[in-house]
Amino acid sequence: MARILITSAIPYINGIKHLGNLVGSQLPADLYARYMRARGHEVMFICATDEHGTPAELAAAKAGKPVAEYCAEMWQVQKDLSDGFRLSFDHFGRSSSPQNRKLTQHFAGKLAENGLIEEVTEKQVYSNADGRFLPDRYIEGTCPNCGYDKARGDQCENCTKQLDPTDLIEPRSAISGSTDLEVRETKHLYLRQSLLKDKLDEWIDSKTDWPILTTSIARKWLHDGDGLRDRGITRDLDWGVPVKKGDQDWPGMEGKVFYVWFDAPIEYIAATKEWADAHGQPDADWQRWWRTDKGADDVRYVQFMGKDNVPFHTLSFPATIMGSGEPWKLVDYIKSFNYLNYDGGQFSTSQGRGVFMDKALSILPADYWRWWLLSHAPENSDSEFTWENFQTSVNKDLADVLGNFLSRITKFCRSKFGEAVPDGGSYATEEQGLIDRLTSGLRTYEEHMEAMEIRKAATELRALWAAGNEYLQAAAPWTVFKTDPDRAAAITRLSLNLIRFYAVISRPFIPDASAAMMAAMRTGDDSWPEDVAKALAALPPGHAFTVPEVTFRKITDEEREDWQARFAGQRSAA
Ligand code: 2FM
Ligand code: ZN
Repeated sequence: MARILITSAIPYINGIKHLGNLVGSQLPADLYARYMRARGHEVMFICATDEHGTPAELAAAKAGKPVAEYCAEMWQVQKDLSDGFRLSFDHFGRSSSPQNRKLTQHFAGKLAENGLIEEVTEKQVYSNADGRFLPDRYIEGTCPNCGYDKARGDQCENCTKQLDPTDLIEPRSAISGSTDLEVRETKHLYLRQSLLKDKLDEWIDSKTDWPILTTSIARKWLHDGDGLRDRGITRDLDWGVPVKKGDQDWPGMEGKVFYVWFDAPIEYIAATKEWADAHGQPDADWQRWWRTDKGADDVRYVQFMGKDNVPFHTLSFPATIMGSGEPWKLVDYIKSFNYLNYDGGQFSTSQGRGVFMDKALSILPADYWRWWLLSHAPENSDSEFTWENFQTSVNKDLADVLGNFLSRITKFCRSKFGEAVPDGGSYATEEQGLIDRLTSGLRTYEEHMEAMEIRKAATELRALWAAGNEYLQAAAPWTVFKTDPDRAAAITRLSLNLIRFYAVISRPFIPDASAAMMAAMRTGDDSWPEDVAKALAALPPGHAFTVPEVTFRKITDEEREDWQARFAGQRSAA
């Protein structure tokens, strides 16, 4: 038995996430966590909300709420939605927790002790009306290059020119619209990650088994241009982790907070401590996952994230860990994802374009979404959600293949033998053929799941469902029954056992349907089918079952059209 630590990128607190966000980290991480638990490994699966930074402050202001209150409410909303999608986190934490505050300050203190923090005085735009410094992207004005009047202080989105706030003509605050701005001096901390370049380089080079998507992004930032330049890790904001050196004040840094991307990944560790604290467990219980001097050296740590998060997880966070000089666990494998597009364009939060997690669950159960999203995960390239494809996948894979198998065999058995696994008869070459097919398919499925090849795993699982369907179709117990009821009983017995087999192996993808299948077969035996022949004899003759309610329904053309129109979003103003 191995110990596996799994983290999903932690979603920003502001707003409900769309299906593209879900399939880019949390959902595949859940698939892997469920699979590893099913194989008997000890798993710690961590996620949280990413609560700091200006977007959270602005969203709270827009909602007319104090930011702490807004975050607490949105945490609950996101928690309920994760539960709705059956994301099986061991803990869903909050980056604003006291545990993260303490740990973030601890890391900053260690980095300072090790000479990896530099204090830099810089000039920044201050808004008198807002009473705060403005991040570059919260300053708007006219682009000196193209004349676009809503250019941002970091870039003009019309002509794409990179800008400095001072380049803008007639700059104003994007928060209040005030033009009463001035340039003031302010002091910030920089993480001297350039000093760790060689160490990081060597570390990335040692990761020969990582997906190309992950290592190519890391290498690009390590080698191209100024990717690994020293990075400001503090901000002039109210909301965030106050800048301290361990538990000591940091002279000159009063009233400042750490940059959200500095404290967010540290929350992976802090959330594990939150988990231990919430259960009244000692520090040793979370440290055995994170401290290589306390047992974590035999933990395998896997991270899941979208490609935009890769630089922070391959360079910045490892720089924090390495730079601390303490024996914290570094990631062993990073599974990263491309983007999921939506029906001929992109998901857009601002235009309400695409399906968001709350709306998705309001129209169909979690398993329908989980199946489509995972079987179309954007692993090797961007992928696209279309309603036609969604309808086809659900109707074919879930309703016609798996659902049809379940209902056909249970109803047949009820009508001819009653609601218990029938006795009698013996197996023929057809059954041996099926067992061989299932054994080789299952081993392939296991290999793909171990390797986190999600689409390939889904394809193999679908093929395993289809093999059962084809067997049943060919063995035709309904015909055989007329001349040889004993043989029909043997076919039926094997097929009923296949339901439990499918419930166990499909659970990481479709946990609710799997639970319904186990309940229908009235069994709690969820042991993994190491030996397929044995697994197909788990439910003995006489074992009672119930015919399940419809496990999967079909999506109609009217529904598809209605949803397509409903989730198209408002037309873009730009
Ligand atoms: O891209 C995002 O949604 C970020 N909130 C991810 C942070 S992951 C980590 F570093 F905690
Ligand atoms: Zn421009």
